[in-house]
Amino acid sequence: MDHFLHESLSELMDLFKSSLKHVDSVIDIGTGTSIPVHFFADHYPDIKFVTVDIADLRQRKELSFIIYDGKIIPFRDQEFDVSVLNETLHHCENPETVLREASRLAKTVFVVEHFVDHEADPEKNIEEEFFSLKVLNLDCNIYKPFDEESLFKLFRETGLVIKDRFEIPYHGNRKIKKYFFKLST
Ligand SMILES: C[S@@+](CC[C@H](N)C(=O)[O-])C[C@H]1O[C@@H](n2cnc3c(N)ncnc32)[C@H](O)[C@@H]1O
Repeated sequence: MDHFLHESLSELMDLFKSSLKHVDSVIDIGTGTSIPVHFFADHYPDIKFVTVDIADLRQRKELSFIIYDGKIIPFRDQEFDVSVLNETLHHCENPETVLREASRLAKTVFVVEHFVDHEADPEKNIEEEFFSLKVLNLDCNIYKPFDEESLFKLFRETGLVIKDRFEIPYHGNRKIKKYFFKLST
């Protein structure tokens, strides 16, 4: 893992420390390269981590993984303590379906999303997103970024309430802001 990625994941780990207290099981939905969730799993060996995606784009493969159809994730209601959607929703064809599944599988849902600054050029932002995906070797062809209004509408429509939220430091060159949301019904 390169130094820059290691530093940002260590920074994330510090930010998430309090949110992971009393958590025994986590499902990472849209695990992508799976590098971030493996980094957390390495540091929290007592938590059971399971990963799912609609395609296998993993660069680390030690954790249990399932490919699903993008609609129904094959686990029981409330089988996990936490569902994680780390930069996943904006790549989903139907984000509402995925968020509803996340909420069915766990009482608490962690969402990481970014918002594009108002003064940023939307075309340039799309170009930069696809460039970042290419660098990570992530083959995603959908990118529908949220703004605060559309994301909060999605949370409301899914019956989820924001219990905690904070900004995640972003060190890249894009005009975006990243946020963590802790949600529950
Ligand atoms: C930017 S990547 C996510 C990065 C990853 N969560 C991480 O922590 O680095 C977006 C992922 O969303 C996945 N995805 C797209 N539609 C999905 C769906 N309906 N359900 C779950 N994952 C989906 C893509 O296959 C891709 O792996």
